[in-house]
Amino acid sequence: MRVFGVDIGGTGIKGAPVDIEDGTLAAPRFRIPTPRPADPESVARTVAQVVEHFDWSGPVGATFPAVIKSGVARTAANVDPSWVDTDVSATLSTALGSALGGTEVSVVNDADAAGVAEMAFGAGRDTSGLVVMTTFGTGIGTALFLHGQLVPNTELGHLEIHGHDAETKASEAAREREDLSWDKWAKRVNRYLATVEALLWPDLIIIGGGASKKADKFFDHLQLRTKVVPAQLQNDAGIIGAALVAVGDQTRPRPVPRPTRRRGPATRPPGGRRP
Ligand code: BGC
Repeated sequence: MRVFGVDIGGTGIKGAPVDIEDGTLAAPRFRIPTPRPADPESVARTVAQVVEHFDWSGPVGATFPAVIKSGVARTAANVDPSWVDTDVSATLSTALGSALGGTEVSVVNDADAAGVAEMAFGAGRDTSGLVVMTTFGTGIGTALFLHGQLVPNTELGHLEIHGHDAETKASEAAREREDLSWDKWAKRVNRYLATVEALLWPDLIIIGGGASKKADKFFDHLQLRTKVVPAQLQNDAGIIGAALVAVGDQTRPRPVPRPTRRRGPATRPPGGRRP
């Protein structure tokens, strides 16, 4: 089955039809720079252009870089403030109209979408337990999975570290803005991930976003107890995750590991039978 995925980002809006059985793009993705200002109407028009480029008719899923509750944006850390409390799903559905073939656009937080894709087809494919997906880009996005199931809208990129919102210091954008060496930036990323680790004790951390393509430049500087791996689907994770979520697939349940019983010495009441 094919579903259209759109990834709405701060610099580009990109989309492609996705083969949801194997998580591959059915055609090369098409990208249009995010309009300025990135208000709801302009963004919706651009999303429609991306979808029309493929002459698509059918279900569409979209990512959005904010907390999304029932299709409505609740925050706007790195997007136009006019998005707060906007029904993103309704706005996009109106702009796409008949291209949707009678369905509504489903909308999901961008990091949650990337995480869903990585858990289904990428770096988290075989992992049970607690997985934290992080995306380092304009901001820091996070997605949390327990035994393959998404816990949506975790906003751990805004953890306060040394008095600062973490993403203002350790995002990919912060590295570029402050012209940090990879070494210096990696130290900040490490401090950030060590904080996440100390609070959640995950089994796996996946690093995605723009930085995941340059893993060789900073992975050696990371010193964490948790296994850390780069994302595998890179630029396509958002598109693939958006398509999966559009058909209700935000979870790939994993077997829950059974707790191992520690057997103590058999105890019997003195002179009697076991109760
Ligand atoms: C937003 C998140 C988003 C992340 C990555 C943060 O500033 O609060 O919702 O997932 O940026 O785009």
